[in-house]
Amino acid sequence: MTKLLVVVSATGRQGLAIIKYFQEHVPSYKLRGTTRNTNTEAAIALVKSGVEIVPADTNDFESLKAAFKGASAIFAYTTFSGIMLTPEIMGRVVSGELPPPVGQYAYDIEVQQGKNMADAAATVPELERLVWSSLSGVTKWSKGKYTQAFHFDTKEAVRVYMNSLEPLKGKVSCLQLGMFTENLITMPERFGLTRQADGSLRWAMQVSGDEPVPIIDIDRDTGAFVHALLAAPGGIQVTGASEFLPFKTYLQLLCDHLGTSGTFETIPFDGTVKDDPTGWKLELVQVYAFIKEFGYSGGDPEVLTADDLEKRGFAVPRSKVVDHIKRSDWSHLVAASA
Ligand SMILES: NC(=O)c1ccc[n+]([C@@H]2O[C@H](COP(=O)([O-])OP(=O)(O)OC[C@H]3O[C@@H](n4cnc5c(N)ncnc54)[C@H](OP(=O)(O)O)[C@@H]3O)[C@@H](O)[C@H]2O)c1
Repeated sequence: MTKLLVVVSATGRQGLAIIKYFQEHVPSYKLRGTTRNTNTEAAIALVKSGVEIVPADTNDFESLKAAFKGASAIFAYTTFSGIMLTPEIMGRVVSGELPPPVGQYAYDIEVQQGKNMADAAATVPELERLVWSSLSGVTKWSKGKYTQAFHFDTKEAVRVYMNSLEPLKGKVSCLQLGMFTENLITMPERFGLTRQADGSLRWAMQVSGDEPVPIIDIDRDTGAFVHALLAAPGGIQVTGASEFLPFKTYLQLLCDHLGTSGTFETIPFDGTVKDDPTGWKLELVQVYAFIKEFGYSGGDPEVLTADDLEKRGFAVPRSKVVDHIKRSDWSHLVAASA
């Protein structure tokens, strides 16, 4: 019988990448995607490409239950900033109506969305695999040193909840996605990358720049990881990385492409961030400090690499970060210096 893969939030970056990958490389799966609004251009384009699109909201258990009906596999994820950067949360923290840190409010909603998806997946008798887009538990692996990395801790809380549900036992696998290559296109300042007046690049972060960090070309490689996790036994956690690259190497590749020079600077972190009363910058900086000190997955011995998966017989074809650099438009960096 044809297997059905249900992809949550099919119009989002991760969702769309998986749909496209399966359409191109794994046509044996029937594809169903969810969206909150089936009338958007993105949703209509998916229908035209042959995907079944159904309405579901990750805040609404009943809609998820209906959307997951008959699924052999489900890919589930949440969007922290989609929740946090709203008038109801960020707006109220900025206005002083709610005390910081802002991430704590998004935490509650994101974890509840994850639990809704887990509860809905647990109602599907045919389900063989639930792939959860997870991240490392920063509070757990830093032993309480960093407690403000809400968008990482949410994903771990959901992973624990999924594994606690009897009908999902042995069926949950986790994909800990690395840093998206797209970040340097969509929000370079948030990642400390700027172009200087002389045309050179400056990348400043609270990481050393020497330690290899997992970096993923979401559009190209997310689907390959999900495909491998559907083929492999359940219970796997893997880092989703196209490559592990030190930021200094990443910067050099970018400089080579743009024909300029660059400097990487490690920003010292004293535990505080003074110019952001919402607490969002502190949250990001705590993540960087965590990566520098404990590694992206916090040293969790259960988290595999793609090479580990390959050794177990489940290959994950991956692209190179330099390919993303070459096919991307970097004019925004030039514009930033003007
Ligand atoms: N950037 C990184 O380096 C990085 C690294 C690892 C993990 N992550 C994680 O990746 C996630 C974001 O993934 P993405 O960039 O693929 O997401 P995205 O494209 O921003 O959004 C995914 C979809 O979620 C739906 N959505 C948006 N706001 C929502 C809300 N409040 N409630 C329910 N659904 C909502 C929307 O679909 P519809 O409107 O069609 O419903 C949207 O298209 C975050 O949780 C982040 O922590 C990011």
